[in-house]
Amino acid sequence: MGCAVAGTGKCLPRLAVSNDDMAGIVETSDEWIVQRTGINIRRISLGESTTDLAYGAARAALGMAVDAEGNPVDPLSIDLLVCMTVTPDTSVPSQASLLKERLGLDNAVAFDLNAACSGCVYGIAVAESMMRASYLVPGRGNDIRRALVVGAERLSRIVDWTDRATCVLFGDGAGSVLLEWRPGRPGILSTFMKNTDDVERVLNRGALYDLSTFPFGRMGERGDALPPQGDEGLAGIHGGPQGVSSDPLRKPFITMAGKKVFRFAVSAIVEAVQVVLERAGVGLEDVALIVPHQANERIISYAAKRLGLPISRFQVSIGEHANTSAASALMALDDAYAAGRIVPGDKVIMVAFGGGLTSGAVLFEA
Ligand code: UT7
Repeated sequence: MGCAVAGTGKCLPRLAVSNDDMAGIVETSDEWIVQRTGINIRRISLGESTTDLAYGAARAALGMAVDAEGNPVDPLSIDLLVCMTVTPDTSVPSQASLLKERLGLDNAVAFDLNAACSGCVYGIAVAESMMRASYLVPGRGNDIRRALVVGAERLSRIVDWTDRATCVLFGDGAGSVLLEWRPGRPGILSTFMKNTDDVERVLNRGALYDLSTFPFGRMGERGDALPPQGDEGLAGIHGGPQGVSSDPLRKPFITMAGKKVFRFAVSAIVEAVQVVLERAGVGLEDVALIVPHQANERIISYAAKRLGLPISRFQVSIGEHANTSAASALMALDDAYAAGRIVPGDKVIMVAFGGGLTSGAVLFEA
């Protein structure tokens, strides 16, 4: 208890790319994409940088939040900024440093965190543990009362626009959450983070992944796979493949063993949900909403079935966003708040899985 969700936000690029648009780029169809994934459109950034998207999402979370007296949150009161991304504008300075400067968070400690699509959960868990540590032993380090946690991605930079098996799945966007330490009040009840490093166990369980073919999210130099910048609109997307490097060593693209990730994902969601419930001593029946990483609607359906829950207990936002990696569950959380699906007192689980392989969950009381 103590670390409360005080605000959420999201920001999307202007350009919406439909499945029919994608069928003009690679051999695919609206029918295939909708049936296999639940995706209708994805937003693609042509003019917006990762910093632009992160800024929009962070401003929205700050705008939604008010302090104990009902006043807007002062940016100078933010003590910590964690940015989760696999597509930062620059590695150094970090994405968080760029965002801190843009937002004027002069007093915040800022750093990046890469846990691929699980970044949203890892970011919240790390921020919460830093807040808790500073609260338990005040004066021993940075006192952290308010933290901004922002997931922002421009996956279109690292998508292979010639590979229909992956390029239809991903989109760009940013999501954020403002965390505030409120002693004695509801908030984060438990967290769980995991990296699947026990290869023997995983392989014995039926080769969930093959090490030699699982470089999900490999990334190289900036711009290799970029659709041209500017206001070309869809022409930029169609021009994308022309920008693809033929040198495999410079290939920055997302590659993925889809079926194996699918199986891993379902198990990872079920495990992470069960662990956070157990750690908090909360029953699944007491959870109002599960907000999962949005990778594939079928993954969510399978996980729901395995947990014995109807899909209505899950926030499903993939149709409008596609998979935006570290931003995805944060944007879905913002959607859930905006739709009135989370009210004070509700118990909510955020759960994610991703490259690495990483997985995790956060259980909080709104
Ligand atoms: O963020 C975390 C990481 N990512 C994920 O969680 C993704 C997990 N995996 C998935 O969501 C699914 O495995 C995919 C959506 C990637 C693929 O769905 P699938 O039902 O596993 O399809 P598949 O890979 O088995 O492909 C089935 C067929 C193949 O054709 P053949 O061999 O049966 O003739 C593919 O070539 O569909 C074909 N195919 C496509 N057809 C039309 C693959 N991509 C496309 C496409 N359009 N875009």
